[in-house]
Amino acid sequence: MRTIVLKASGKGLPALVPSEDYSPTSDVTVTAPSLERNLDALRNAIEKHNYDYYILDQPTASDAEYDALWHQLRELEAAHPGLVTSESPTQRVGIAPSSRFGQITHSLPMLSLSNVFNETGLEAWAARLARILPGTRFTFITEPKFDGLAVALTYVDGVLRRGATRGDGVTGEDITANLRAIKNVPLRLRREHDIPIPSIVEVRGEVFMRRADFASLNGRIEQAGGRVFMNPRNAAAGSLRQLDPAITAQRPVRLAAYGIGHTEGIDSLKSQFEVLAKLRAFGFETSPDAAMHDEIDMVWSRCEWWLQRRDALPFEIDGVVIKVNDLRHQEELGLVSREPRWATAYKFPAIQQTSRINDIVVNVGRTGALTPLAILEPVNIGGVVVSRATLHNEDEIRRKDIRIGDTVIVQRAGDVIPQIVQVIEERRTGEERVFVMPESCPACGSPTHRAEGEAVRHCTNSACPAQLKRHIHHFVSRGAMEIDGLGEKLSDRFVDLGMIRDIGDIYSLDWSSVASLDGMGELSAENLRASVEASKVRPLHRLIFGLGIPFVGERSSQRLADRFHSLQNVIDADVEMIESVPGIGPVQAHGIWEFLHNPENLAVIAKLRDSGLKMADDSQSNGPASGPLAGKTIVLTGRLSKLTRGEAEAALRRSGASVAGSVSRKTSAVFAGEDAGSKAERARELGVPVFDEQELLAILDGSPLENGKDLAE
Ligand code: IVH
Repeated sequence: MRTIVLKASGKGLPALVPSEDYSPTSDVTVTAPSLERNLDALRNAIEKHNYDYYILDQPTASDAEYDALWHQLRELEAAHPGLVTSESPTQRVGIAPSSRFGQITHSLPMLSLSNVFNETGLEAWAARLARILPGTRFTFITEPKFDGLAVALTYVDGVLRRGATRGDGVTGEDITANLRAIKNVPLRLRREHDIPIPSIVEVRGEVFMRRADFASLNGRIEQAGGRVFMNPRNAAAGSLRQLDPAITAQRPVRLAAYGIGHTEGIDSLKSQFEVLAKLRAFGFETSPDAAMHDEIDMVWSRCEWWLQRRDALPFEIDGVVIKVNDLRHQEELGLVSREPRWATAYKFPAIQQTSRINDIVVNVGRTGALTPLAILEPVNIGGVVVSRATLHNEDEIRRKDIRIGDTVIVQRAGDVIPQIVQVIEERRTGEERVFVMPESCPACGSPTHRAEGEAVRHCTNSACPAQLKRHIHHFVSRGAMEIDGLGEKLSDRFVDLGMIRDIGDIYSLDWSSVASLDGMGELSAENLRASVEASKVRPLHRLIFGLGIPFVGERSSQRLADRFHSLQNVIDADVEMIESVPGIGPVQAHGIWEFLHNPENLAVIAKLRDSGLKMADDSQSNGPASGPLAGKTIVLTGRLSKLTRGEAEAALRRSGASVAGSVSRKTSAVFAGEDAGSKAERARELGVPVFDEQELLAILDGSPLENGKDLAE
């Protein structure tokens, strides 16, 4: 055994105990003779549904059933107030709000954890254990380190009696009422399968909020005009430290239990593995994906595994907790000051840092969009020096009230461009300057315009050099035409020197002028020429992507190429045909059509074609099309019943035809399905033959048409 993942349910919950152990023993029906038994059964049923819903993520009752149980319980309790118990689900928020939190002294101190930041640190930690207990074979448990708030919950005879924050580790705040309001906190430990209930058990865990819950909570707060929380941890802490537990009850916080503190009367637990199992048996949500390892290098692999998944998890973690599994070993290892030797935390590289905004500049993108950028005092965030952060648009700047000179929190997450999370207002000196978006383009001086209902301001000059520069960067980039050697600096220089005025010019550069540029020379010019040449045969989808059609990314480009096989076919298509490509919506289709019918863009495309770029995929690029319909231009219109539009187009192309979107004198034939409208009419006006679906199928089949009609010119 090297690593065992304590999970088999696929639900993110460690299946330490066979999952049947969690299933209900029987459905609860309220027929028991005694009223108390009825009440108890109702409470159990509700708590069971809470458990299925919040812990197992597998609701077993409809909302209506759940509501009905609540209704019955409330009615019965209202009629018999003397029988209301504090652990009844109705009492989760029934306790009067405290005006100030009282203090609770933990019976065992809540420790903190030492940290390691890399593999070497982890190995050093393990080596220390080996020195203290030589010859011991350790096993380790790894658990995600939730980014929340540590709490301790004390259950007396199985009933939740006290709950406290960690505080300084010795004394915490009494937040019993608020912890009771958290839906996945058992008010009573589960008693199924005769698990003996200890007289006292203190359960420790982390209160946290899932990312999605955090986002929707912030959405609600924002709508109500309130102040949003900065991150899920603050939201969880803010929700827990509410004086009114009714507010906590409305907040989507959860508890993940990871340990047991002071306890009396529990049957002996031997390992952290068993602790987690016991916690689950008691009804707690525990660390998902906890794993057991017997080699420290496997522990490190697991840390890397968590680091990789970090951004994709439904909740935030700031590291991995590594614990010695055997509780006897834990005891033998003991503590140093407030930190146990038997556990440590691998802390992920920080993704947030503070920095200062030295300036705000405006970047002009390839579509002319103006994006404000913060120029930061350079700061190292998790090993990467960050000196700029995107500010998105002017509304965003206003919303976050970001000013030049502000001290801010900067965040880097994965590959995402660094962002400003928040201004630290307390650090303002009064010297800060409010930023205003420029009325004229910083690159070309032309007026800028912000259309109504749009967040983004644009440069109105389509020949803006900044736009052109970005367009070229995009065109020559990896996913597009991939022209090695034409880096941003060099292509910007070509633009500044007037050697490139549009992307078409890349293919007609004067190579002797290129060679004579400062720092270039014959060899560099020749290499560049070779890579420009090599780019002429890139697949069609990369050419489409490189054109920089608004809102057409790599995937849409691939879809267009798959469907149309040549750039000319896309140009010939009408909006309806483009829209019928799966994954392309009406707005996007319209944008594509507009782009490909803009005379300037068509001129650039013609230039590319004349330079010898491959403009079709291999099914169409092997010389002139052959097949029975070679050379024919076909228009499809109306609804077909036997074929989809895509199938019909593909079949026509296989027969050598090109498929166009609109009827002109050059159209060889129109195939009209049901409800064909103006296109069929227009064809008749122009004397272009019109065929129906039946005839289309026959032609594709190569059969003669019954009425002697033909497609011959
Ligand atoms: S065990 C002595 N396990 O990390 C060991 N702690 O400095 C006690 N935390 O705020 C902690 N997830 O609440 C442990 N799976 C986990 C944890 C975890 C988060 C927090 C803990 C405390 C901090 C420890």
